[in-house]
Amino acid sequence: MTAHWKTAWVVGGSSGLGAEVVKQITADGTKAYVSARNKKTLEGFCASLENAIPVKLDVSHEGECLQVVNEIVSTIGELPDLIILNAAIYTPMGCENFDPKSIADMMQVNYLGVVNMMAALLLHHQAGKKTTIAAVASPSGWSGLPGGVGYGPTKAALINLFEGLNAELQNTAFDLRIINPGFIRTRLTDLNDFPMPQLMEPEDAGRRLLSGLKKNGFEISFPNPFILFLKLLHLLPYWLYFKLVRKKS
Ligand SMILES: NC(=O)c1ccc[n+]([C@@H]2O[C@H](COP(=O)([O-])OP(=O)(O)OC[C@H]3O[C@@H](n4cnc5c(N)ncnc54)[C@H](OP(=O)(O)O)[C@@H]3O)[C@@H](O)[C@H]2O)c1
Repeated sequence: MTAHWKTAWVVGGSSGLGAEVVKQITADGTKAYVSARNKKTLEGFCASLENAIPVKLDVSHEGECLQVVNEIVSTIGELPDLIILNAAIYTPMGCENFDPKSIADMMQVNYLGVVNMMAALLLHHQAGKKTTIAAVASPSGWSGLPGGVGYGPTKAALINLFEGLNAELQNTAFDLRIINPGFIRTRLTDLNDFPMPQLMEPEDAGRRLLSGLKKNGFEISFPNPFILFLKLLHLLPYWLYFKLVRKKS
């Protein structure tokens, strides 16, 4: 196998979708740095693979992001060819369990975690090295949905951030991408108690994500027709939108 990327860094890569991506790229020969908070799980996972190097990191700490980005740059001599910002946490939430603390925790990781990473990465932008930086968002960021009132806004903010940054960074060394996967069977969706249309296995989602990254284009969203349905939903007038997404009692 020939590696598409010589070096990569998957932040939030020790379980679920991120872990699957790490398995697939390292099997192709990419040398992958892998980050997450839980050191034991991270080291155990990386030890099971060739070419995977654990680098413990909590993206909610700005200083830690700065330090780890600098460490990786000094080890490789430049930024990795591919960086996937995939770390997130999720608590299903509606009006019955609406909780500011839980919302703040999700915002701190899912949105501000990416902000912290981008602040550190942008310091290396002038180096001129081509680097693909992909943020994993979610279609739940497109429109407000029942059960997603805590998580959805974190992904809406992330999509908006990456749209703005991409407008700033077009035709520069940074190739920005936003990834919006549908439902994937992971420990996050294990928390859902509603039917999940076109639920993907992590292997399948990982393959689709990597195939999208190998092509051009800012947005990588899958699987259809579920994604197409959600995109159309977002375009509807509110009176019709709320009829369709009404919470079943
Ligand atoms: N599953 C789905 O259906 C689905 C759908 C759309 C989008 N997504 C998005 O896809 C991404 C992966 O989700 P998943 O379902 O694969 O979740 P997962 O299995 O829980 O994986 C999340 C990864 O992020 C790490 N992480 C969490 N908080 C972190 C922090 N503060 N700093 C660094 N690493 C952290 C976790 O390890 P530690 O806990 O050890 O830190 C783990 O490696 C997320 O961005 C999620 O929002 C998922």
